[in-house]
Amino acid sequence: MRKLGLHEIRKEYLEFFREKDHLVAPSFSLVPKNDKSLLLIGAGMAPLKPYFTGDAVPPHNRMVTCQKCIRTGDIENVGRTARHATFFEMLGNFSFGDYFKKEAVAWAWEFLTERLEIDPKDLWVSVYHEDDEAYNIWKDDIGVPEEKIVRLGKEDNFWELEVGPSGPCSEIYIDRGEAFGCGHEDCKPGCDCDRFLEVWNLVFTQFDKDEKGVYHPLSNPNIDTGMGLERIAAIMENVNTIFDIGAINDILRKAEEISGYKYGTDEGKDVSVRLITDHTRAMTFLVSDGVIPGNEGRGYVLRRLIRRAARHGKLLGIEEGFLHKMAGVVIDSWQVEYKELKENEVQIKKIIKAEEEKFQETINAGLSILEAYIKDMKNSSEEVFSGERAFKLYDTYGFPLELTEEILEERGIELNKEEFKVHMEDQRQRARSARSETDGGWGGNDDELTKGIKSEFKGYLKTSLKSKPLLLIKEGERVSLLSEGEQGHVILEETPFYGEQGGQVGDKGTLTWEGGKAKVLDTKLSQDGAPIHLVEILEGQLKEEMEVFAQVDDDLRDSTRRNHSATHLLHKALREVLGNHVNQAGSLVMPNRLRFDFTHFEGISKDNLKKIEELVNHQILKGLPVITREQSLKEAQEQGVTGLFDEKYGETVRVVSMGDYSQELCGGTHVSNTGQIGLFKIVSEAGIASGTRRIEALTGINVYLYLNHMEEELDQVASLIKANRQNLKDRAKGLIEESKEKDREISRLKDRLSANIADEILAQAKDVKGVRLITHISSDLDMNGLRNLGDELKSRLGSGVVVLGSTGGDKVSLVAMATKDVTALGVHSGNIVKAVAQATGGSGGGRPEMAQAGGKDKSKLPEAMESVEKILSGQIK
Ligand code: ALA
Repeated sequence: MRKLGLHEIRKEYLEFFREKDHLVAPSFSLVPKNDKSLLLIGAGMAPLKPYFTGDAVPPHNRMVTCQKCIRTGDIENVGRTARHATFFEMLGNFSFGDYFKKEAVAWAWEFLTERLEIDPKDLWVSVYHEDDEAYNIWKDDIGVPEEKIVRLGKEDNFWELEVGPSGPCSEIYIDRGEAFGCGHEDCKPGCDCDRFLEVWNLVFTQFDKDEKGVYHPLSNPNIDTGMGLERIAAIMENVNTIFDIGAINDILRKAEEISGYKYGTDEGKDVSVRLITDHTRAMTFLVSDGVIPGNEGRGYVLRRLIRRAARHGKLLGIEEGFLHKMAGVVIDSWQVEYKELKENEVQIKKIIKAEEEKFQETINAGLSILEAYIKDMKNSSEEVFSGERAFKLYDTYGFPLELTEEILEERGIELNKEEFKVHMEDQRQRARSARSETDGGWGGNDDELTKGIKSEFKGYLKTSLKSKPLLLIKEGERVSLLSEGEQGHVILEETPFYGEQGGQVGDKGTLTWEGGKAKVLDTKLSQDGAPIHLVEILEGQLKEEMEVFAQVDDDLRDSTRRNHSATHLLHKALREVLGNHVNQAGSLVMPNRLRFDFTHFEGISKDNLKKIEELVNHQILKGLPVITREQSLKEAQEQGVTGLFDEKYGETVRVVSMGDYSQELCGGTHVSNTGQIGLFKIVSEAGIASGTRRIEALTGINVYLYLNHMEEELDQVASLIKANRQNLKDRAKGLIEESKEKDREISRLKDRLSANIADEILAQAKDVKGVRLITHISSDLDMNGLRNLGDELKSRLGSGVVVLGSTGGDKVSLVAMATKDVTALGVHSGNIVKAVAQATGGSGGGRPEMAQAGGKDKSKLPEAMESVEKILSGQIK
């Protein structure tokens, strides 16, 4: 057997199949493209599905890849065992209707036994129990002894995903020797013990499984194979676990270096080290592929990986953010195959660091609350952790449920998950009803009534036309007419009104007919995509089937167009300036402003914001033609059109392009030339959720109005400080200087004043059993001022006791001080202040020399201060 490392095996494998006329493709992104059935790529064949099913034509009918994969199904076990991992690489050779079982089997055997020089004696194989063809190939063509060919059932030897290509398979196993086995006589592949390690899965892809679980035979049989790179590397390096493989062990060593913990000396800590090692690989590749931590989908997978790793870092005693350093090891090592890691290095480290830091804050706050809850539980001898508390941790403190679960599990405490779910559902209900109160006057939903009704939107080309009402709805019921003063919902045969969609608000305008008029307050789409108008009848009666003239408010529509087109330019400019990880997360296009939400992990610097704004304005000034075309989804994808390619779109899509600058899938209304946008101005930029930013901006006349308003404000400020626009800055600077000088003067005067006050107070010092005592009530000092005055008095007194109270703040503040010599006589400031505070309904205390406290009832203060003399007298021995 040759001695090869992980990166070398990958190279050998790709090269071997290149020699067999396979097209070598670089790994596809972990983020599936146009595949709603998958969250992340978890097998080499997953990105190639359309080639298997015949939905797309492959560039070559033989391909080979080393595919980065993530599977999170076993995440709970990662770290706990030596073999589970979330991230792995899968070596795979594929045939799309080209070669089949014979070649797949022969080449797999050749690669293992001749290229890697694994002794054939150590290899076993399994086939699907009904697959005689595969059985015979192994037996006759390859010459594997029959006792080493095992027939297994569907559970072991049939490969499938939820949906997509699938088929019977044949697997190759390495016999690691009796030492790893269970010792049973019939121990062979398929046995539960660790002796036979499955290394390579050859799938004879013959079916396409649909959502309902029906298997449709494929017209061409294909080959899909998968060999876990880490598994074969462990064999070739002759190590027991994937964490001992050279390249992976380097990551593990980094965790040792940062934590100072020596791997192998504590089983609990070893779990943490392994988990960090695995998760670091997963998070590094995920971020590199554009995933940003978030609360849903892939973003949530990433967030969970980072947070779990961060917490296990804490268990190892690592106090600072460290995962970005760990990621550095992965980047340096894996860049040999994945060049993008190096290109995205800064981004990767930044995103991981930011998420980890944020989590540290959450975790610190959440952990102490969780600890307090657990303590509480123990005190009241509760056995199950309440779901309400878990929900509170989650809802109020942002502490993830999984983390609560994990920590409780580690302590052997059970969690009432059902109760958590009830609280979660309650909260959803509350959110839902809050939403329906703010539905803009639509009231109820018309789904049933509008079902199946079609209406054509003509508003891309015109903003007015003649039409007929097909359906009138009043208060959730179909009616034949709407009368003056009434509100209702109307669907027209065809309409120029745009129904709210894709972030663009619905059109407003009027419907007129002979003898009548209605205001269109808003337009939205029915479930079947027909625009529904929310109308208020101003005059006359609106009836079904009568002729009406529908007129969109052109001014509003024009403003909306400007904002929508500007949104596309902004999207592109953001990607240019910040990077391609920027993706639209939401948008709101209204007549008077636009709002654009997008994925990005940190605030945007002023400079970058300016750059973005300038870029957009440049494209406006260029007067780029805006062209809309309809084309097939596939073509659009091939041309690199930006857009969320999900199920919302049919086979043909609408693509809006602005010169060569931007191309986006979009159903909205746009200007015909970017010049019509006029001007673009960003008015705010802020974070709205972790990893998501929001920009608000204005266009056209609204920029002009905004600038006018700013000028007016400027003039007002100028006039307030008796300046004009020209000298405003100098005048402001002068005023600030003046004010600083005045502050200095005030503080000098205050010093003198307090010296005078101090004189007055000192003059009233009393003698208590030979100890000098000063008591004084101030009406304006805060605690700080009180302490300063106390220090001053004490030092001037030289020997004695000072007790001061103030009614300056919301409550009573108290300070007591005693010089050292009198504390020797038994004087204790803490006890004095405590008694005074209690007399005013408060509490406090402190040391013999100095103490402070707070009271509540200001009216009780004078009496309480009078008692000081007696207290002091009692203290002096
Ligand atoms: N698609 C097969 C697997 O993932 C090769 O095992």
